Amino acid sequence: MSQADIPTAIALTDLEDWGCTPGIFRRLMYLDPGGCLKAVLDGEMMGLTTATSYGDVGWIGNVIVHTRHRGKGIGVQLVESAIEYLEGTGAETMRLNSYIHVTSLYGALGFKREFENVRYNGVIKPSGDMAPPSPSRFGDVVSFDERYFGCSRRRLLWRLRREFPRTFISTGNGDVKGYIVGQVEEGSCEIAPWVVDHRSKECARELWRALAAIVGETRVALTAPVPCEQASSIARWAGLRKGFRTLRMYRGRRAHGGRPAGTIALGGLEKG
Ligand SMILES: CC(C)(COP(=O)(O)OP(=O)(O)OC[C@H]1O[C@@H](n2cnc3c(N)ncnc32)[C@H](O)[C@@H]1OP(=O)(O)O)[C@@H](O)C(=O)NCCC(=O)NCCS
Repeated sequence: MSQADIPTAIALTDLEDWGCTPGIFRRLMYLDPGGCLKAVLDGEMMGLTTATSYGDVGWIGNVIVHTRHRGKGIGVQLVESAIEYLEGTGAETMRLNSYIHVTSLYGALGFKREFENVRYNGVIKPSGDMAPPSPSRFGDVVSFDERYFGCSRRRLLWRLRREFPRTFISTGNGDVKGYIVGQVEEGSCEIAPWVVDHRSKECARELWRALAAIVGETRVALTAPVPCEQASSIARWAGLRKGFRTLRMYRGRRAHGGRPAGTIALGGLEKG
């Protein structure tokens, strides 16, 4: 895909109400320009997928085929192309988050179950006075994130900090305790990622309050791994509603899995 394909990509993902914005595709193309793949038939783009390489680990997402062309093997070809692309980047492990009813497609291509994620929706509201958190150095946040994600997301985090400077919030000063990113686009806020020290009880709430103070009352959504107990307790505390589930799957060596216990929100269903 190129930048010129973004409007068609959005028209395709709108068929499933995924709510993709141009920013999402621009970010994916920045992260891995060669990994954004389109399926073309008679000159018409009628499917796409995105592969994102983080070195040893690659993620596959946004697998979609136009309704008119489903059931003809295009979805499988797209995923096979993404696998081939990531193999070329040297990934020893591949991951993706699948809708529960589509897991057989990926199972047939060698992906195995890992754990479920749950989507949360709600509203974030500012609550009284609070001392702003003491931010950490960017490099320290990247190293902290690597322990929880399983490999370095420096490029993604650098991009998010540039795009969302006010809502890229970390705490802990020299000794990072956690960070949250509020991606405010088109009037709502996707919290992605949100990672905290899995032993610290207060850090997640401190980051939520800090984000609320900046964005004001706003609709929010996030996707949390089910093994993260802090995510379900903070979602209850914040009054978020549970939505659909997805299954995280892996292919190849089961490595670089990180620590889902400290991952309150993914960086994105499509890119881990
Ligand atoms: C899922 C999707 C990409 C599959 O594309 P496709 O071109 O229709 O798939 P294929 O023709 O390559 O089908 C391959 C296999 O996938 C499975 N499959 C495809 N679509 C499926 C669906 N909606 N539900 C369950 N299984 C499905 C079938 O097992 C099929 O095997 P079969 O041919 O033996 O029946 C397409 O249905 C789509 O765009 N759906 C909406 C978006 C979506 O759900 N994306 C997946 C996100 S995890």
